Amino acid sequence: MEKLFCVVMVIILNNLRMEAVTINRTKLQPVSGEKIPLLNLTCPLDRKDIPLNKNWSKRPWTIPTSYPEFVDRALDFKVRYDDIWILGQQKTGTTWMQDMAWLITHNFDFKTSENSHVYERSVNLEYTGVYQPFAGTEAEKKGVSSFAATENMTSPRIIKSHLSPNMLPKELWTKKPKVIYLTRNVKDSAVSLYHMYKGLKYFDGTKEQFLDALMTDSLAYCPYWPHILEFWEMRNESNIFFISYERIKRDLRGSFKEISEFLENPCSDDILDKAVDHLSFQSMKNSKAGQTLQKIMEDIHGTSGEFKFIRRGEIGSHKDELPEGYSEKMDNWSERSLVGSGVAMDDILSFSYK
Ligand SMILES: *[C@@H]1O[C@H](CO)[C@@H](O)[C@H](O)[C@H]1NC(C)=O
Ligand SMILES: *[C@@H]1O[C@H](CO)[C@@H](O)[C@H](O)[C@H]1NC(C)=O
Ligand SMILES: *[C@@H]1O[C@H](CO)[C@@H](O)[C@H](O)[C@H]1NC(C)=O
Ligand SMILES: *[C@@H]1O[C@H](CO)[C@@H](O)[C@H](O)[C@H]1NC(C)=O
Ligand SMILES: *[C@@H]1O[C@H](CO)[C@@H](O)[C@H](O)[C@H]1NC(C)=O
Ligand SMILES: *[C@@H]1O[C@H](CO)[C@@H](O)[C@H](O)[C@H]1NC(C)=O
Repeated sequence: MEKLFCVVMVIILNNLRMEAVTINRTKLQPVSGEKIPLLNLTCPLDRKDIPLNKNWSKRPWTIPTSYPEFVDRALDFKVRYDDIWILGQQKTGTTWMQDMAWLITHNFDFKTSENSHVYERSVNLEYTGVYQPFAGTEAEKKGVSSFAATENMTSPRIIKSHLSPNMLPKELWTKKPKVIYLTRNVKDSAVSLYHMYKGLKYFDGTKEQFLDALMTDSLAYCPYWPHILEFWEMRNESNIFFISYERIKRDLRGSFKEISEFLENPCSDDILDKAVDHLSFQSMKNSKAGQTLQKIMEDIHGTSGEFKFIRRGEIGSHKDELPEGYSEKMDNWSERSLVGSGVAMDDILSFSYK
């Protein structure tokens, strides 16, 4: 009897222990054309540390099946007070912002920025957990760990992440380093993301299938809108700077100035002139750094020369790229997603602190 009790207790304890470290996950039904299997995850922690103390910590979100083993690695990641975190959904201008933030915090060293690609100077924290063919522990063992690389960077580190608030490091919300949150017209970023997924061979279906997958939360980093809305609500936190791709594109000079003030390194007019020239879309695309990035994509992901990581970079490029009816379909979806938030997409895109 006693022995049976012990065995039962051990089983219960083991299960409890498993419960504590097991992430709530369900495999997603793959949609047509999708090449990367996805999971629907919820955060293993009940997080009271996220600003505003809303009920975001249990929000489920989607990520490739290679990610769960890295959940703790991200949550327990050691943040530094002088880090600068570049956050936002994919294809919202985060790569562009990585370079801006790097320049502002590295003596406006345009020469290095021109000659080395930005991913050598600024790492996407969860890269090894998400993007093929680097994803998973096998890749980790080979020493290509984005987590180790981020830990290893010298301060001030410029760190990029597309993770949602509930999956970001706990210390991000206690040490409160500076955070720049990027957002962009969802129709433009969706088109851009489609081209990236096609180029990287993560998706081989039609554009319609891709957009439907995005609107039904069947792609990585979905649901799409809550990510934006949660940071929108946190935009007044003193360590958070919220800005849209559209605002930067329309006023690169003014935006760069504002960001340099936020990062407590204001710059002269002379530097501003150089920055505008250096960060213009064509310069980025044609720079040695841009070309290197392109080459890396081709080498690593086997993308063809037709795939351009830095592609059009325009505002409103969805207009000639969305399939018939999809502009309205996506507007309806955005409207539905924004119900109850008291905000419209245009308010978010034109938002400025000034
Ligand atoms: C797992 O997910 C379900 C559905 O979202 C939720 O009801 C449940 O509380 C979650 N469990 C844990 C341990 O997070
Ligand atoms: C969080 O609260 C909002 C508003 O009260 C509700 O609509 C939403 O379903 C809740 N989300 C979760 C994950 O409980
Ligand atoms: C960490 O930095 C050192 C010194 O720069 C370098 O030798 C090492 O390869 C780096 N490790 C990783 C995982 O990036
Ligand atoms: C993810 O899980 C949540 C909660 O269990 C559920 O409401 C949602 O529909 C799931 N998403 C998908 C795409 O299956
Ligand atoms: C943010 O600050 C602005 C200006 O002070 C205010 O109008 C707005 O209600 C605040 N919003 C939130 C979510 O804190
Ligand atoms: C969008 O919503 C409007 C108003 O509810 C509706 O009339 C229209 O059919 C919807 N369009 C699409 C493409 O779903």
